[in-house]
Amino acid sequence: MKVAVLGAAGGIGQALSLLLKTQLPAGSELALYDVAPVVPGVAVDLSHIPTAVKVTGHGKDDLAEALTGCDVVLIPAGVPRKPGMDRSDLFNINAGIVKALVEGIADNCPTACTCIITNPVNTTVAIAAETLKAKGVYDKNKLFGVTTLDVIRAETFVAELKGQDPANIHVPVIGGHSGTTILPLLSQVEGVDFSDDEVASLTTRIQNAGTEVVEAKAGGGSATLSMGQAAARFCLSLVAAMQGNNVVEYTYVQTDDSDDAAFFSHPVRLGANGVEEILSYGELSAFEQKAKEDMLEGLRGDIKLGVDFVNG
Ligand code: NAD
Ligand code: LMR
Repeated sequence: MKVAVLGAAGGIGQALSLLLKTQLPAGSELALYDVAPVVPGVAVDLSHIPTAVKVTGHGKDDLAEALTGCDVVLIPAGVPRKPGMDRSDLFNINAGIVKALVEGIADNCPTACTCIITNPVNTTVAIAAETLKAKGVYDKNKLFGVTTLDVIRAETFVAELKGQDPANIHVPVIGGHSGTTILPLLSQVEGVDFSDDEVASLTTRIQNAGTEVVEAKAGGGSATLSMGQAAARFCLSLVAAMQGNNVVEYTYVQTDDSDDAAFFSHPVRLGANGVEEILSYGELSAFEQKAKEDMLEGLRGDIKLGVDFVNG
């Protein structure tokens, strides 16, 4: 397996790369790319950790070298939020960054699985899809918006509230990755009951968890360490699935479901070629059904913004 991290010198990129260096299967290669001049140093630093994962560093003119032969590409490149900003305020800078990097994927490793972390995810995944289509190499089964952070947060908050081990708590989170488009399905959490007030307050906390970190970091960026963990979990699941294991993760994928939105987080069975099967997210409670109906128009608008960015 060759895995590339684009934006590897950043807060997420470094945490993610550390976890991949220590957890990718033996014999894997990890290519770190960033426009920041420190990236070769990050690669040298990681290369001193004694695992059988080869790490290479690639500066701003070496994108092709980083991407050639890749099976999985993770993109956390771009700017994070500051207090008072929405994720959509990042569009002006991050849209062009994602488009340029995905063009590099199309040119150098068109069959790789591409995992988008850069915000606004609701929109940047659509930008990636349209960019790959324009290059004639789009495979909807190989493009993912990474929404795993919403899942791990939901599991943490439910476990805290109910005094349980988070390892035993599984919370489906569907929809998108911004505000009310993040929809945890608390009605489906096994072995735990919630009052109506708990459902309302937990749902709001999960939806605003990114802002909780942005405000706590007070201008120093957004979630990096928990996101590194979330992206590593998603990447390692994908790699395991590509090597023949049966794995299901929640992720923002093209759904072809006209009742929801063109991209929507679902439980997805991963396999050798990326998405093997998009699974149903099951029955929603009345609260969840209303929350879904209320957010769909906004999510569809976020996706349209991405489509229009590429197609003019
Ligand atoms: P950061 O500023 O610490 O790092 C970003 C890195 O991207 C920097 O090293 C920068 O040099 C690099 N970069 C910028 N332009 C580039 C380009 N064209 N090519 C390659 N590298 C480039 O930011 P961060 O905290 O790591 O966050 C990165 C992105 O991830 C932000 O957009 C943030 O909103 C998003 N994010 C998403 C989630 C999620 O759940 N999907 C969670 C947290 C953060
Ligand atoms: C998060 O959920 O932490 C990220 O999307 C970063 C942000 O801007 O909130």
